[in-house]
Amino acid sequence: MTDARSVPVDPASAERLAAQGLTYRFIDTASDADTEAFLRADARGFLDSDPTAEQVTGDRSSLADRRNIGVFEADVPLGTWPIATVNSWVTPLTVPGGEVDMWAISSVTVSGTHRRRGIARALLEGELRAAASAGVPIAGLTASEATIYSRYGFAPAIPAARVNIDTRRAGWAGPDVAGRVEYIDRETLQENLGTLHEVARTQRSGQIAGWPGRWQRMAGLSAGHPNATALRGVRYRDADGAVRGAMAYKLTEISGSFRFDLEIQHLSAVTADALVALWRFAVQHDLVNSVSASLRPLDDPITWLVADQRAVHVNVHDHGWLRVLDVPAALSARSYPAPLDLVLRVDDPLGFAAGSWRLTVGDDGGASVTPVDSATSADVTLDAVTLSALYAGGVSAVQLRAAGRLETQADTAASIDDAFRAAEAPLLAIWY
Ligand SMILES: CC(C)(COP(=O)(O)OP(=O)(O)OC[C@H]1O[C@@H](n2cnc3c(N)ncnc32)[C@H](O)[C@@H]1OP(=O)(O)O)[C@@H](O)C(=O)NCCC(=O)NCCS
Repeated sequence: MTDARSVPVDPASAERLAAQGLTYRFIDTASDADTEAFLRADARGFLDSDPTAEQVTGDRSSLADRRNIGVFEADVPLGTWPIATVNSWVTPLTVPGGEVDMWAISSVTVSGTHRRRGIARALLEGELRAAASAGVPIAGLTASEATIYSRYGFAPAIPAARVNIDTRRAGWAGPDVAGRVEYIDRETLQENLGTLHEVARTQRSGQIAGWPGRWQRMAGLSAGHPNATALRGVRYRDADGAVRGAMAYKLTEISGSFRFDLEIQHLSAVTADALVALWRFAVQHDLVNSVSASLRPLDDPITWLVADQRAVHVNVHDHGWLRVLDVPAALSARSYPAPLDLVLRVDDPLGFAAGSWRLTVGDDGGASVTPVDSATSADVTLDAVTLSALYAGGVSAVQLRAAGRLETQADTAASIDDAFRAAEAPLLAIWY
């Protein structure tokens, strides 16, 4: 897998920013001053409080694994805060039938003093060109706002559900499962969440690999975590004693009532029984009025596990954003549950995915993708955003056609859905 840190800064973005008197360069993670300046600028960009010295020290290690870029006023000394930040790394992205390398982008900030001068555009286009130059076929991110990234070809491809359960009326209608749920300390929780995610991420399209700092934070162990002691952990062992699920959660008192809201911070279950057992633990917890969980897949069984479905409120929102850069490499990296043979005409203002492509899926589910002459008549006309929305199997072609995003016949859209559909709803269980 490509090490993003070995890919040089994009010359076109460097030139564009230099024309504004700005320097676009790598952060030197061997320098405490440069790293600290990046972390503090990043926190300011996301409207967080300024990190403590302890938090800066704790966050430094996860920065070292990434390709960190800052934009600086010209000729400032090392340790000056950048006026814009971005970082990236290459991670496996699970797709139906396998994995594909994905260029993950994070920490996109532009300081309030330099907004709306095209700096974010230079950063994003620079990341996409860097990814393409390294042969990485797809880019991904999670977004603070849903209106920023489609101009660069990204689509909300992996929706997520936020679930809220009124436990006073929910009841329980789920099965009794063998095995047991047990409390664990935070160190064990960190370890179990990491190990389970490595399995869980291969089970659904849309997932990416986690990293140690993420599980440390989920378990309340990252340095300077403000609510660390409020986090608790349980895990599920199956009848043979194997750990198949774990959950980090927090209880908050509803002021003065001695009743509580239980907020699930992260739930990882690699078997159906593990999920049922952990949901049951939460929904039937004493003294709890409500249970909430974010980043659940759209086909989470919770609605069918309770006696009163009206106790479960599900809010679906955009979460994982994808951007296809290399059409043949991306489309042939996944498998398809039904055959297909059509010509796609893809419009891409940034050029990466533009062209006409014949996509042929055989009975074995494997795809071949070849460029065809632009004079060939196309069965489907779509832009890079729409192609990226379809890619992981989480968005329907029929729905996109109804929204005017996909030009094709109704039966072709239905065939695309048959071929692109993922058996289980795609999921991205983390923010990055
Ligand atoms: C979002 C942010 C990075 C934009 O930076 P910027 O340098 O001001 O953006 P640019 O000047 O390059 O604008 C590029 C385009 O995005 C649009 N845009 C910028 N911010 C936007 C926003 N918040 N919502 C919608 N559109 C936005 C601009 O209008 C411009 O559109 P155009 O190219 O079609 O004319 C910046 O406002 C920021 O740091 N916000 C806080 C942190 C954050 O939310 N980061 C995103 C993390 S996922």
